[in-house]
Amino acid sequence: MFIKREDLKMSKIILVTGGCGYVGSKLVPQLLADRHQVRVIDTQWFGKNLECHKNLEIIKKDTRQINVQDLQDVEKIIHLANIANDPAVDLDQVLSWEVNVLATQNLIDLAVRGGKVTQFIYASSGSVYGVKDENQVTEDLTLVPISAYNKTKMVAERVVHSYADKIKVHSIRPATVCGMSPRMRLDVAVNILTFQALDTGKIKVFGGNQTRPNIHIDDMVEVYQHFVQNSVNLESGAYNAGFENISIMDIAHMVQGIIPCEIEVEGSNDPRSYRQSSKKLLDTEFTPKKMVIDAIYDIKESYECRMLVDCDQYHTIKTMRGLTL
Ligand SMILES: NC(=O)c1ccc[n+]([C@@H]2O[C@H](COP(=O)([O-])OP(=O)(O)OC[C@H]3O[C@@H](n4cnc5c(N)ncnc54)[C@H](O)[C@@H]3O)[C@@H](O)[C@H]2O)c1
Repeated sequence: MFIKREDLKMSKIILVTGGCGYVGSKLVPQLLADRHQVRVIDTQWFGKNLECHKNLEIIKKDTRQINVQDLQDVEKIIHLANIANDPAVDLDQVLSWEVNVLATQNLIDLAVRGGKVTQFIYASSGSVYGVKDENQVTEDLTLVPISAYNKTKMVAERVVHSYADKIKVHSIRPATVCGMSPRMRLDVAVNILTFQALDTGKIKVFGGNQTRPNIHIDDMVEVYQHFVQNSVNLESGAYNAGFENISIMDIAHMVQGIIPCEIEVEGSNDPRSYRQSSKKLLDTEFTPKKMVIDAIYDIKESYECRMLVDCDQYHTIKTMRGLTL
């Protein structure tokens, strides 16, 4: 049973846009467990993926239509709602810029004008760095985004930080997330490779030498909790959140060590390669607890007990191709 908006009147609410997605559907239950009141705004393109809770309000809505009323009694915003990978952004670039950038600007502008929101946490992406040779990619390095998706992330970051003189603004630059979630994603590196090994006994690796950082979904959730809990002490700015810099081929071998399978290599048209340093985040007393290998074991276990079966909703591009927007 959902609580009505009137019943939340005196509360300090955390608004989570995109709360029904891969990260959101793991994050929202944790915020509720931390005894927060949560309002989710999501189009539910990949399903609702959240259990009812007395402190949870779910609004099925597009962030492009957010208005003042949606922000009533909101104290903090975690903005996850985005068209969230390269091919899905390329499907309709006008829509993608509207959702990823213009709606983000409208949201933070409404929040600042309302005068009650104290913190805006923006889910950016580690992919804003593009290709980098540095051994340690830190937040102060230049951003050279390659794809349209990466460009929307960089521009939205700049937009939200232009409000940092008014409220706390934290841009998180996550590595590729891995592990199980109620809205599963089988289109991110570790998850794809593990699922292929389980389902077909064969892993297809594109390129293989690109080095990318990774983060377990449980740590991703804890990063957002950390910023909510320590808002006052954490300076506005961008924070990397990625802990294992390994090549796609390393991931394939890690999977092969757990699930017997063949590895097939094909050419790649995605040159993004960089090693993220998350020292700035670690210096705020954040400690990651899980590794890529934990995600592989979790996926294997879910698959073996038939809790994980492939479907279109687990692939962003397949679902989005079928939507009329
Ligand atoms: N998953 C990763 O590896 C990763 C890595 C770096 C950054 N990120 C960023 O983190 C955020 C969350 O990623 P995710 O993996 O959970 O993605 P996701 O696609 O699973 O979740 C996004 C959610 O937002 C909703 N949504 C999209 N557009 C909307 C709109 N206009 N209005 C309302 N709801 C909308 C979708 O229905 C979905 O539930 C995204 O901004 C993504 O770019 C993700």
